[in-house]
Amino acid sequence: MAKVLILGANGKIARLAEHILIDTTDSDLRLFLRNAGRLRDFADSHTLVEAVEGDATNVEDLQESMKDVDVVYANLAGDNIESEARAVVKAMHAENKTRLIWISTLGIYNEVPGKFGEWNNKTLGSYITNYAAAAKVIEDSDLDYTIIRPAWLTDKPEVDYEVTQKGEDFKGTEVSRRSIAQVVVDITQDPDKFKRESIGINKPNTDGDKPAWY
Ligand SMILES: NC(=O)c1ccc[n+]([C@@H]2O[C@H](COP(=O)([O-])OP(=O)(O)OC[C@H]3O[C@@H](n4cnc5c(N)ncnc54)[C@H](OP(=O)(O)O)[C@@H]3O)[C@@H](O)[C@H]2O)c1
Repeated sequence: MAKVLILGANGKIARLAEHILIDTTDSDLRLFLRNAGRLRDFADSHTLVEAVEGDATNVEDLQESMKDVDVVYANLAGDNIESEARAVVKAMHAENKTRLIWISTLGIYNEVPGKFGEWNNKTLGSYITNYAAAAKVIEDSDLDYTIIRPAWLTDKPEVDYEVTQKGEDFKGTEVSRRSIAQVVVDITQDPDKFKRESIGINKPNTDGDKPAWY
């Protein structure tokens, strides 16, 4: 029974993962977020869930939240994502934690081929370089990480995905947040899955020059 710390617990994928974890596993959850009042009612209504307040750039906040957890799932964002990565790695080292699931993005290795790759780079700009720098911090660490590189996210209520490895061309253009949440949950229940891997995740047969809605 893994105890899971969720950083950025009010994020959209994180919320889906929380519901799947509650509905399908017996894991304890610690929800780490800014302004924890937003999830207080949710935490209070589930016995295995607690909400704690903190900022993911603050190493002390992170260390305090990690004390008794088995897996750290970081669902973070922002221009300062590299600082967040540094703080998470530092806190995990200080607390002797090893298993990290880190949500990144497609394109951080220039792995998206063709016209879609060009469009993705142009559209995302410095977001990609920031996320690439953050992923490098994680990969240069000795942590047992899984870096997840989702395609463009949708809110479709489906689990339908395929995986590409680092070094392979990225496939497709889109994937549902629900699919990413399911992969995260599966890793929390089987921590050897995708260990020290950086995986691209997309919905099969969604190749194109842009995501379908652009
Ligand atoms: N949109 C796409 O198509 C796409 C594609 C690939 C990857 N991604 C990336 O996938 C990730 C997860 O997606 P999502 O939809 O779940 O994103 P989201 O809803 O924006 O969740 C990100 C969460 O990070 C939290 N956060 C940011 N800085 C923080 C800090 N310093 N301390 C604590 N929490 C912090 C935010 O908290 P607050 O609620 O306090 O602001 C927010 O809840 C994001 O990084 C996103 O950029 C997106």
